[in-house]
Amino acid sequence: MQGTEKGKNQPDELDIRRFQENVLDFYRRNGRHDLLWRKTNDPYHILVSEIMLQQTQVQRVTVKYPQFISVFPDVSSLAGSTLAEVLWVWKGMGYNRRAIALRTIAGLVVSRFSGLIPDDEAVLSGFPGIGKATAGSIAVFAFNRPAVFIETNIRRVFIHCFFSDRVPVSDREILPLVARTLDREHPREWYYALMDYGSVLGRRIPNPNRRSTHYHRQPAFEGSDRQLRGLILELLLQEGTMIINDLVTRTGEQPGRTGEILLALVREGFVTLENDTVRLHN
Ligand code: ADE
Repeated sequence: MQGTEKGKNQPDELDIRRFQENVLDFYRRNGRHDLLWRKTNDPYHILVSEIMLQQTQVQRVTVKYPQFISVFPDVSSLAGSTLAEVLWVWKGMGYNRRAIALRTIAGLVVSRFSGLIPDDEAVLSGFPGIGKATAGSIAVFAFNRPAVFIETNIRRVFIHCFFSDRVPVSDREILPLVARTLDREHPREWYYALMDYGSVLGRRIPNPNRRSTHYHRQPAFEGSDRQLRGLILELLLQEGTMIINDLVTRTGEQPGRTGEILLALVREGFVTLENDTVRLHN
């Protein structure tokens, strides 16, 4: 980025203004203005998109988000669904824990908040599957609140533009800059712009987030617990109730390993064990 003095982590007002202008200029010319979830103000739709975008690439969410919304168009339809129905629509997204969290949130919103998604970040953070970044995103994108938050793309922008001389950088150091640069009148547009700029930076330069204290590489999928979890849920979706031994055989894995994953899925509320059978939790 031009205009911001590289590595300047004590920027003055002029640096801040230049930074804002550059990010917005980039966004006007190259922003992803057509993303479906940016064309709605419906807090439920935005909640769905933000949970999806936590760990799935934009391109895939572009396909899954409208499918999910057409099956579960509002919070009460999701609250009244079965887990199997939600997992069916979620297929192909990975990280199924998010699907169960989304359904739980819908139930809580209906039972405790009269069906209205709360606009308060602290309340949102209390829901399962919603951390600070997702709570901030929902406050901003659904309610146009000037919340201060950091996620991967935003982090990348600030590290690249203000901390190019530093290793490592913590979010505690970045947050005051996010607050200072925030356009409080138009937080939605500002955060869209930051995310889009960060996304393009990620494709252009070696990932500056490696210099973040919050950097974690995505673990390999092949042979991972995540893959086995997905396979178990897939089998239960297909078969309904299964004899545990049959399920173990079908996974082709060591019984001990499959058993451990099954127990984790029970603890998390995905599946129910009964005598020698296992099925998806309702
Ligand atoms: N637009 C709104 N929220 C987004 C997100 N989390 N990632 C990318 N684009 C978005």
